[in-house]
Amino acid sequence: DGVDGRAGALLAWYDAHARDLPWRVPPGRADRPDPYRVWLSEVMLQQTTVAAVRGYFERFTTRWPTVAALAAADDADVMGEWAGLGYYARARNLLKCARVVAGMGGFPQTRAGLQELPGIGPYTAAAIAAIAFDAPEVVVDGNVERVMARMFRIETPLPRAKPEIREKAASLTPDARPGDYAQAVMDLGATICTPKSPACGICPWMDHCRARAAGMAAELPKKEPK
Ligand code: ADE
Repeated sequence: DGVDGRAGALLAWYDAHARDLPWRVPPGRADRPDPYRVWLSEVMLQQTTVAAVRGYFERFTTRWPTVAALAAADDADVMGEWAGLGYYARARNLLKCARVVAGMGGFPQTRAGLQELPGIGPYTAAAIAAIAFDAPEVVVDGNVERVMARMFRIETPLPRAKPEIREKAASLTPDARPGDYAQAVMDLGATICTPKSPACGICPWMDHCRARAAGMAAELPKKEPK
């Protein structure tokens, strides 16, 4: 359980409402998701929505079910399957990474090890370590920033608020089930704590959210004027 039950309340919500995504293991099952599938999904999701990624992910994993299979693929075949996802440097790094990992005999299990691989930055390394290996990493993407800015009523605009948001996110990350917790915050941000009309009335964190108490959830996070 997390700080005064907040992580626990979110995990209970996730157990009931997690999105059914092809790279996930349904909540409640004891096995970890396949690191290859977690990695592939995170790279695809870097600049692309969940809705757009789904089909690409299914085609990639049907054609190349393991990192060894992807490592042995022809570059042109991979670029062809990637066509339409954009940001083609991601696809080139994907292949480079697959070949390094296949050579290593599998994915490194720590954030530091993952971050040395081509195409894996700090966010992606933390996400893979948490989701695939249940490491207690703090995973902060745009969804998480919005959720934290509201929970703690952080009125400092982004990007200036990033260090404070990260600190708050770290304070809530539980030692138990950090991978499920990371995905639960993402799902909360994607389905309830949405940018425009957050559904605060059905939020598992409604009693803990300082922005909701102040009636200003929809106004946060603030952005630095451009
Ligand atoms: N966005 C990035 N990674 C994600 C994940 N594992 N689940 C849902 N949305 C995500």
